[in-house]
Amino acid sequence: MMKKKSLLRINLFAALILIIVASGCEKPKDGDDGVNGINGTNGVDGLNGQDANAFCKTCHNEANWTAVQNQLAASKHGYAANLANEGQQRDCAPCHSAQGYLETMATGLDTPAVNHLVGTTWTDSYIGNYSLTCNVCHSFHGTLDQADFPNYAPNAVPPFKSKFNKNIVLDLGTSNVCIRCHQNRPNTSVTFGGVTVNLDTMYNNYLYSSDSVKIVSSRYGGHHGPQAQLKAGVGMGDYEIPGVAYVNSTGHANLSCGDCHVLSTANNTDSTGGHYYKLKNLRTGNENISKCLSCHPTATSQDMNGVQTTVRGLLQAIEAKGILNHWLIATPGYTNDYGGHSNGMIIGKNGTGNATAANPRTVTAKQAAAIFIFCVCRDDMSYGVHNSKYIQALLTNALAAL
Ligand code: HEC
Ligand code: HEC
Ligand code: HEC
Ligand code: HEC
Ligand code: HEC
Ligand code: HEC
Repeated sequence: MMKKKSLLRINLFAALILIIVASGCEKPKDGDDGVNGINGTNGVDGLNGQDANAFCKTCHNEANWTAVQNQLAASKHGYAANLANEGQQRDCAPCHSAQGYLETMATGLDTPAVNHLVGTTWTDSYIGNYSLTCNVCHSFHGTLDQADFPNYAPNAVPPFKSKFNKNIVLDLGTSNVCIRCHQNRPNTSVTFGGVTVNLDTMYNNYLYSSDSVKIVSSRYGGHHGPQAQLKAGVGMGDYEIPGVAYVNSTGHANLSCGDCHVLSTANNTDSTGGHYYKLKNLRTGNENISKCLSCHPTATSQDMNGVQTTVRGLLQAIEAKGILNHWLIATPGYTNDYGGHSNGMIIGKNGTGNATAANPRTVTAKQAAAIFIFCVCRDDMSYGVHNSKYIQALLTNALAAL
């Protein structure tokens, strides 16, 4: 009690002095600063909070992101020289440039609005857009709830009309992001009576007919990305020549393109798996089977049950027919990826020179369909893995038709 009272008195006294000083009666000089006091002891750490960060960091860490960037840059999706010219042209840009892809996704149109190449002159900003960027395939998870993971934030791409046959809608779920590009292009290289025909309709109307048509391009085929049509197994429409029944393999039905091509463990020596995408190094012949082993535990190659050997054999047999009938030629000393010897160019009339409008190859409508099937299955490059039964049926019936 006593102590409190005297404290109060001292405080009152101090306040009085302050008032005097503040009122400017007298102005004393500032004293020197006192010495800093000694730091107190650290407190005890609190309990750890719940660690959301660690879970996110299993994917979101510097090493992972750098590795992915390097892989992407080394793949054909990122290798500038591969995508250069095609990326500038309207007809090619939806599949050969990141900007072309994103523009057509946004507009829903088949091609970007304008060419970005006039002759050999680059016109504007599409110049730099050779390679695919992360946002072509990824956006945001849409959720951060751990129960919804693994979630690789793939872009949701709605079902779309196949370029090859507008009557067929392609929908392979999480694979749609890939198959907007990895799909057949329309067949515009066949003429009937001097007019370009949709062989699909032609073949439909003239089933078994011996009507002559002309193949007017050496690059005949579905372009290089027929994987959508073959994986979906509905994609070849009326090109399916009757014969062996068309059935889809079901073993891989629930696998997306990325399950095999990206989620296979990256092999930096062979540049396969991960964001290298390819599963075989065509130069060394080395295959990446890390993902396959989870379901085919005894596999030593991608040739399960000899399926790839069978499919390569069918391609070679058709190639042999082509060479015999002079619509293909063998290059001495050259062996292609399926073990044949042709460079794939369709030869024109009389068996010389590449096929063009001026030097067309004349065949029946049914043969033209069979040759198209050959080109598609060759360019798929999985040799049966994408849809073993369907691919074998297509080739078996094509071979018989030739
Ligand atoms: C299974 C791997 C994985 C896990 C786990 C994961 N992410 Fe992601 N996340 C990704 C991928 C892949 C992307 C797309 C990358 C891109 O577009 O740059 C992404 C994208 C994102 C984006 C958008 C980035 C952008 O550029 O648009 C955010 C934000 C994000 N993640 C936050 C999180 C958080 C927070 C967690 C933890 C709750 C988490 N992620 C867990 C793989 C993962
Ligand atoms: C529907 C999408 C699409 C369109 C449109 C498209 N391409 Fe492609 N192109 C692809 C895909 C997919 C590949 C690669 C497939 C692979 O590597 O297996 C490819 C590969 C190529 C290749 C490389 C071939 C090789 O042997 O490596 C060239 C050259 C090419 N395209 C040129 C063009 C040109 C020129 C145009 C425009 C006139 C065009 N593409 C339009 C999808 C397309
Ligand atoms: C051509 C499409 C494509 C591009 C471009 C792409 N990704 Fe991916 N990414 C995938 C697919 C597909 C998966 C596997 C998810 C699936 O199949 O559902 C994946 C998985 C991942 C994963 C998880 C697996 C892993 O390897 O750790 C990360 C992280 C990732 N991507 C980051 C990136 C980043 C960063 C970029 C840009 C530098 C990028 N991706 C570009 C398609 C792509
Ligand atoms: C924007 C269009 C586009 C998208 C989206 C796309 N690709 Fe490609 N892809 C191409 C083109 C074009 C090439 C060939 C480039 C060349 O040869 O010049 C290619 C090449 C490839 C290759 C060969 C790679 C190599 O380095 O040899 C594989 C495998 C592949 N793509 C798989 C996929 C998978 C799986 C997805 C989805 C996760 C996907 N692609 C998404 C256009 C695309
Ligand atoms: C069951 C696993 C599996 C699935 C699912 C799968 N692929 Fe493949 N794919 C392979 C194998 C194996 C090869 C042959 C090895 C190689 O060339 O990469 C191949 C080859 C390819 C090639 C040729 C690669 C090159 O070397 O130029 C492309 C492009 C491709 N696939 C794209 C796709 C697309 C697009 C999808 C989805 C529609 C898909 N794949 C689904 C296993 C798969
Ligand atoms: C999610 C499981 C799974 C994965 C991953 C997987 N497969 Fe398969 N695969 C199957 C099933 C199931 C079958 C059908 C049953 C069978 O023939 O063994 C099958 C069938 C096949 C066939 C056809 C066999 C036949 O006789 O018709 C081939 C070829 C094949 N797989 C290759 C591969 C390759 C190559 C990989 C890796 C790039 C792979 N698979 C990855 C489950 C898988």
